[in-house]
Amino acid sequence: MLVNAKEMLEKARAGHYAVGQFNINNLEWTKAILATAEELKSPVILGVSAGAGKYMCGFNTVVAMVNAMMETMKITVPVALHLDHGTYEQCYSCIEAGFSSVMFDGSHYPIEENVAKTTELVQVCAQKGLSLEAEVGAIGGEEDGVVGNGECADPAECKMIADLGVTMLAAGIGNIHGKYPENWKGLSFETLEAVNEQVGEMPLVLHGGTGIPADMIRRAIELGVAKINVNTECQLAFAAATRAYVEAGKDLEGKGFDPRKLLLPGTEAIKATVKEKMELFGSVGKA
Ligand code: 13P
Repeated sequence: MLVNAKEMLEKARAGHYAVGQFNINNLEWTKAILATAEELKSPVILGVSAGAGKYMCGFNTVVAMVNAMMETMKITVPVALHLDHGTYEQCYSCIEAGFSSVMFDGSHYPIEENVAKTTELVQVCAQKGLSLEAEVGAIGGEEDGVVGNGECADPAECKMIADLGVTMLAAGIGNIHGKYPENWKGLSFETLEAVNEQVGEMPLVLHGGTGIPADMIRRAIELGVAKINVNTECQLAFAAATRAYVEAGKDLEGKGFDPRKLLLPGTEAIKATVKEKMELFGSVGKA
């Protein structure tokens, strides 16, 4: 059964490790992430962007697939199904559909409007037992057509949003979705430290987990990050393994064109990426 992300993240924050949010795109992705979490006895958060939700035939389909898969695979570790970067309306659609967690990304609104909408969603999520992630300071890069510049959040604004009673807070600290450019200056630990001082024990969320060096990840966890989002890295691993399979002509050998064979190397590559991240984040054995 799905759980919300509150308990797993509070434990992670207190235990100085982070839970990975791995975004899902289809059945293979979901199966690979669930199997790895179960094998490593790690809690996990399945992230669904609005675009990926649409691709998978809507949020209801996603909920039905994840629930059925968890039952069939006999998953025992805590799993949260989480809307990634939701609009106000998309949050309501996911609450309705049976997600156990949502992110309201009000970072592009003036702070007053972010506060007003987040306040309302805090109440609705509390009533329905969901966890809620809020965001201050846009995360850079491009995701589903939403482009940000890698801002650094204002710690005072972070406190305003954290005090509303959200479960977890994403603060921009110079992080970017997708691959990091050559001239990236790295995470702003100065900002993270200032935010952490303002928000008490609130689990912080680090978006744009792809390509952040291991030492920066460890330092971020020390400074209160308890959830790290990874999306692009699984996509790159899947694409590279699929490319290698096709370039080696394996799809032309016997029944190598069978999707169950064709998509297998990519699926295994997602598993390896998730395993590597769970080990780095310290969530292995914490379920
Ligand atoms: P990456 O695609 O850079 O790993 O970022 C994922 C993310 O932050 C999803 O919200």
